[in-house]
Amino acid sequence: MRIAILIALFFVFVSDSANADDPAARPAASATDIEYFEKKIRPLLANRCFSCHSSKAKSVKGGLKLDSDGALFAGGDSGPAVVAGDPEMSLLIQSIRYDKDADFQMPPKGRLPAEEIAELTAWVKRGAPFPPDTNPAPQKDGGIDFAAAREFWSFRPAEEQALPQTKAANWPQQRLDHFVLAAMEQKGLVPSAEADRATLLRRLSFDLIGLPPTP
Ligand code: HEC
Repeated sequence: MRIAILIALFFVFVSDSANADDPAARPAASATDIEYFEKKIRPLLANRCFSCHSSKAKSVKGGLKLDSDGALFAGGDSGPAVVAGDPEMSLLIQSIRYDKDADFQMPPKGRLPAEEIAELTAWVKRGAPFPPDTNPAPQKDGGIDFAAAREFWSFRPAEEQALPQTKAANWPQQRLDHFVLAAMEQKGLVPSAEADRATLLRRLSFDLIGLPPTP
C-alpha cells in the first residue's frame, strides 16, 4: 500500500515538473518563429484581444494579458491560457472556438472568422512561440504586480512638488500652506481670520492643560 502511494506521488511530481505549460520547459523561439509570430499572430491578438487582455487595456479581463510570453503562460484567473503544442487543452483555443459556456466565448462580441481560429490553433500547435519578454514576467502572487506596486506614491522617495496656484496669494506663510489653501479653495472654503494673541493663548492653554488660562 505504502509503495503504491509512493509510486503515485512519484508520478505526480514527474508529470508536474515536465508540465508543458512551464515556460522554462519550452525551447526558445527561433528567428523564424518570431517572424511568424510578429507577422501573423501578434496583429491578430492586437486586433481582436488586446482591448481587454493587455497591459494597455483599461481593465484587464479575466486577469489575462496576451501581450507577453510570461503573461500568456501564467494565464488568467482560470490558469494558463495556452498549453504549448496542445490546442485542445488550451483555454485560449477553447474560448475562440466557443467550446465553453458564454463567459468564456472570446471575443465576447462574436466568433472570429474561421481563418483566424485556424491561424491561432496552428500557432499553439507549433508550440505557441512568442518573443522573449523584455520585462520580467508579472508576479502571480494573487495577481499583485510588485514592480507596479512599488511605484505607489507612498513607497516613492519624497520629492519637492511645484506649488499649486492659489487665489489668496498672501495667506500662505510656508510651503505646506500653499497646498492646504489650494485644497480649501477647491472646496470653496476660505481661511478663518487670524486669531488675536489672547485667543491663541486661551486655545493653547485648553489644548495643553485642559483649563482656561489665568487672568
Ligand atoms: C470586449 C472584451 C474582450 C475581448 C475583446 C476579449 N476578451 Fe477574453 N475575456 C473577457 C472577459 C470579460 C473575460 C472574463 C470572463 C469571466 O471570467 O467570466 C475574458 C476571459 C478570457 C479568457 C479566460 C481567462 C481566465 O483565465 O479566466 C481567455 C482565455 C480569453 N478571454 C481569451 C481571449 C482571446 C484569445 C481574445 C481575442 C481573440 C479575447 N479573449 C478577447 C473579455 C474580452
